[in-house]
Amino acid sequence: MLSHGEENNVTPLRIRITEVGPRDGLQNERRIISTEAKVRYINALSDSGVAEIEAGSFVSARAVPQLSDSDEVFKKLERRAGVVYSALVPNEKGLERAFTAEVNKIAIFTAASDTFSQRNIHCTVQESIERFKAVVSRAKQGRMAVRGYISTVTHCPFEGKVSASRVVEVMRELLELGVDEISLGETIGKAAPNDVRRLLDEVKLHIGQAALSVHFHDTYGMAIANVLTAWMEYGVTSFDTSAGGVGGCPYAPGASGNVATEDVVYALKASGASVVVDERLVVNAARQLGGELNHPLSSRLSRLNEYQTRYEAVT
Ligand code: HMG
Ligand code: MG
Repeated sequence: MLSHGEENNVTPLRIRITEVGPRDGLQNERRIISTEAKVRYINALSDSGVAEIEAGSFVSARAVPQLSDSDEVFKKLERRAGVVYSALVPNEKGLERAFTAEVNKIAIFTAASDTFSQRNIHCTVQESIERFKAVVSRAKQGRMAVRGYISTVTHCPFEGKVSASRVVEVMRELLELGVDEISLGETIGKAAPNDVRRLLDEVKLHIGQAALSVHFHDTYGMAIANVLTAWMEYGVTSFDTSAGGVGGCPYAPGASGNVATEDVVYALKASGASVVVDERLVVNAARQLGGELNHPLSSRLSRLNEYQTRYEAVT
């Protein structure tokens, strides 16, 4: 029930990585890097074996200036066969941009708590669902796949703990809209495995067939434990991760980056999962990005000498 579909010819048991560094990572960086550097980063990630790359965001430039060049990024990136290139879309204006950019998939985004939703997209959760009706319907007519994000699935930075039953309600609304998959966003990186169990027990009980990803931020260092809990105890096989561990939401104060792609790949492989991503190539991409961002990366693997040697060997 909780495993992802067979997109990209992956078997249900094979791990599917959605690389969100170029979107979730870069949206929260103080330094705005050049379009060319973003394209280099995405191209390097395209070679690593990830199934999907969230390569940009068609939101208001005032809300997220770091990604205001996403239209250009999509024009310039080299699309590799078999890799899905997706982007965040908050409204119909964003959808128009996504059509022009010829993205493979859009991601609409709402939350399980109203205060976060208001700060992030200036409307309540219910109002966002209304707004997304036309977006999803037009995307479907245009044969575009749609992901639906739900943020604050365990904790809200403004309201505290969030009930799993509220998350299930929002999941039902998104599935009714016709989204192809749902990503559960642990926006502020505070959840521990018991919070993941509280959430996924409820999802398992109330939601039938649904393609599901989990999206953990790593503020409290719990994200790898959460990934392994979701995989081992609930059979979740689809994870959103960010090369180098960059990222965060500018509207979630104090939240740090997504769990690092390379660290998740290592942890899952070491635990016996089938993962086609080459973590050494992810480290290469992350270290290139690190040079642009001018600050140390938070991922574990990118700091290890054995991976650094590999990086120097291939550049
Ligand atoms: P608003 O101010 O209520 O909307 O913002 P508006 O329609 O009044 O538009 C305001 C201005 O933005 C106008 O420009 C519009 O044209 C422009 P002006 O006339 O003032 O010059 N605008 C746009 N420009 C380009 N593309 C668009 C677009 N839409 C409006 N699509 C809005 C509402 C949703 C647009 C705004 O609040 C927004 O863009 N928010 C995005 C916030 C965001 O990107 N947050 C981070 C992503 S979510 C996240 O990180 C969580 C996630 O990772 C999961 C997790 O971790 O939990 C997904
Ligand atoms: Mg996020």
